[in-house]
Amino acid sequence: METIRRTKIVDLLKRRDFGAMVNVKGWVRTRRGSKQVNFIALNDGSTINNVQVVVDLANFDEDMLKQITTGACISVNGELVESVGAGQAAEIQAREIEVLGVCDNTYPLQKKGHSMEFLREIAHLRPRTNTFGAVFRIRHNMAIAIHKFFHERGFFYFHTPLITASDCEGAGQMFQVTTMNLYDLKKDENGSIIYDNDFFGKQASLTVSGQLEGELAATALGAIYTFGPTFRAENSNTPRHLAEFWMIEPEVAFNDINDNMDLAEDFIKYCVQWALDNCYDDVKFLNDMFDKGLIERLQGVLKESFVRLPYTEGIKILEEAVAKGHKFEFPVYWGVDLASEHERYLVEEHFKRPVILTDYPKEIKAFYMKQNEDGKTVRAMDVLFPKIGEIIGGSEREADYDKLLTRIQELNIPMKDMWWYLDTRKYGSCPHSGFGLGFERLLLFVTGMANIRDVIPFPRTPRNAEF
Ligand code: 4AD
Ligand code: MG
Repeated sequence: METIRRTKIVDLLKRRDFGAMVNVKGWVRTRRGSKQVNFIALNDGSTINNVQVVVDLANFDEDMLKQITTGACISVNGELVESVGAGQAAEIQAREIEVLGVCDNTYPLQKKGHSMEFLREIAHLRPRTNTFGAVFRIRHNMAIAIHKFFHERGFFYFHTPLITASDCEGAGQMFQVTTMNLYDLKKDENGSIIYDNDFFGKQASLTVSGQLEGELAATALGAIYTFGPTFRAENSNTPRHLAEFWMIEPEVAFNDINDNMDLAEDFIKYCVQWALDNCYDDVKFLNDMFDKGLIERLQGVLKESFVRLPYTEGIKILEEAVAKGHKFEFPVYWGVDLASEHERYLVEEHFKRPVILTDYPKEIKAFYMKQNEDGKTVRAMDVLFPKIGEIIGGSEREADYDKLLTRIQELNIPMKDMWWYLDTRKYGSCPHSGFGLGFERLLLFVTGMANIRDVIPFPRTPRNAEF
């Protein structure tokens, strides 16, 4: 075959220099036609759109043509021509075709319309479907948007460790990291495992959050963000929980809770706008195929300002709903850790726009949050979103050394794990705030996918670590 520089399909479909000789490489989506002429829909992953390759059968070897089946990988040299049919403006009149990789009829993606459950079982191949191609292109674009947003605002991307000896959220949901022989654990006279000979000389785990180290950086560099994987061994089999998920955690010196809410709102709106501006073809595809209200919902979020409401007020609204006969699965009372149904009621039924709930009871929030004067609540903020529930969790941090120490002791958090964190309050303490955005929860919102397992390439959930 003649060597012609490859053009990506996304670029090719924009070209109008008809008559030019071009090369494309990609995977066959469909092939149809008559005894004289065939039409191959070819996709190379650069865009949701296929390029149509027109093949006059008489010009090609019969054995080669037989190998052009769904899923096969081919290289095509041909002339860029103006398309006569509807759809794309440009197509290729094939001159030479080389089959790079054949694909027999055991290929599981022969026909369209597989269930999402089935596609999860073949997660190694599902990026080749239109749906997952769209989702993973959007995932990439959202990652770029996040870096752009913070970089443009002078935040520094700070890398926090994945292996840690402290439990940031204090929820005991950590995966242990060890090189010890589990069949031969050394224990002391109380039956406790001796970690002296373990790799780190102490018990270590995968991090649930980079926040504590992020605070060290914010109180030095001013404004930072983290963006990396986090791990939670919570046994939650829901459409919104993963055992391994990515989190973005900005942390800013001198920001109070109101600045923190402004930042969260600006940040989410920037990401949503970015998706509409940079991934429109993919978003439109998902809108048309799965979720007819998607684009409207994305545009809706951009227009509205988020409701800002204390937890106590939120509980009153939920209690009124119960009094009026609304049925929740879980009870509502002051002090309860809200369930997703409660959050969604506030957002979808009561206010009909995103809600930032603030000032939660201290018992249901982490030790590091700034304590309010009332002695009962802390300066927490959760951003609640339509169809998702909690998308962001954050707070102003307790800057007072004594108050923080007292809370750490009340919760029996071992000091040997926390001395370095307390040093931020000992040496030049300052007011500061931050939050964590669950990357996959953002992607659920932007793609309209119903299950969090479908917005990460290889989901890790209880009893599942396939691929
Ligand atoms: O509310 P969380 O637990 O807050 C923190 O970890 C804080 N340290 C963040 C901070 O202030 N820097 O988690 C933050 C967000 C949640 O709002 C949710 O979007 C997401 O992380 N998240 C999960 N996403 C997927 N699967 C899970 N199991 C998640 N747990 C939390
Ligand atoms: Mg939370």
